[in-house]
Amino acid sequence: MSKKIYLYGNWKMNMTVAETEEFFKNFNYKSDDKIDIAVFPTFTSLHAARKAANDGVHIGAQNCYFEAKGAFTGEISISMLKECGVTHVILGHSERRHILGESDELVAKKVKACLDNGLVPVFCYGEMLDEREAGKTFDVMDRQIRAALKDLNAEEISKIIYAYEPVWAIGTGKAATSAQAEEVCAWSKKLINEIAGKDVKPVVLYGGSVKPSNSKELLSMDAIDGALVGGASLKPDTFIEIYNAYAK
Ligand code: PGA
Repeated sequence: MSKKIYLYGNWKMNMTVAETEEFFKNFNYKSDDKIDIAVFPTFTSLHAARKAANDGVHIGAQNCYFEAKGAFTGEISISMLKECGVTHVILGHSERRHILGESDELVAKKVKACLDNGLVPVFCYGEMLDEREAGKTFDVMDRQIRAALKDLNAEEISKIIYAYEPVWAIGTGKAATSAQAEEVCAWSKKLINEIAGKDVKPVVLYGGSVKPSNSKELLSMDAIDGALVGGASLKPDTFIEIYNAYAK
């Protein structure tokens, strides 16, 4: 048990400012050489999260726009996020791809904009159930990953944190099996290195119904470096227990 575990909490459209402050009253953990912790609150709770959280917890956003400023009603710029203390941004999450209609091209522009401005993109990809059942899992992810990395050099590719999130496992309570998740995470690392033209030691997380009862098995897999957690990240005890269940 020597690898560093990435424990990232995607709060989605949950957690008001008051709830965010309450969360951090009960969450006193921070990143060290064994664990890297980040939470991704909704925009209006970012500032409060940065103020309330321990310095060793990264604060990330769930989205951003690629332009610096201007007439983009409803969007948010990278400099606005940085002003709130944000260092990471989730991009390409399946809820943005499939509910909000984000294309591979739009996601790629956002990834590039984050890298250009010193933010860590947490780039998500994954197949839908019908795609898996039709044997298209790897074709879909190949397209998603290549589109995002197309114009990036090896150094940029190495700075991204990758998250494999099968759409059918998100919010369903039905996580991928450790074998399924390992297969895709290992495959992803090979593809990312092939695109980069060298071994960039990509960090690849698994996301989709991760909870304390399945985290040990998932996080023990060789190619899985951590978890992107939705529902189970909303409660301080449950969130940290995802790591503790693995570590003990
Ligand atoms: P979940 O969400 O843990 O609630 O399935 C994961 C995610 O969407 O990142």
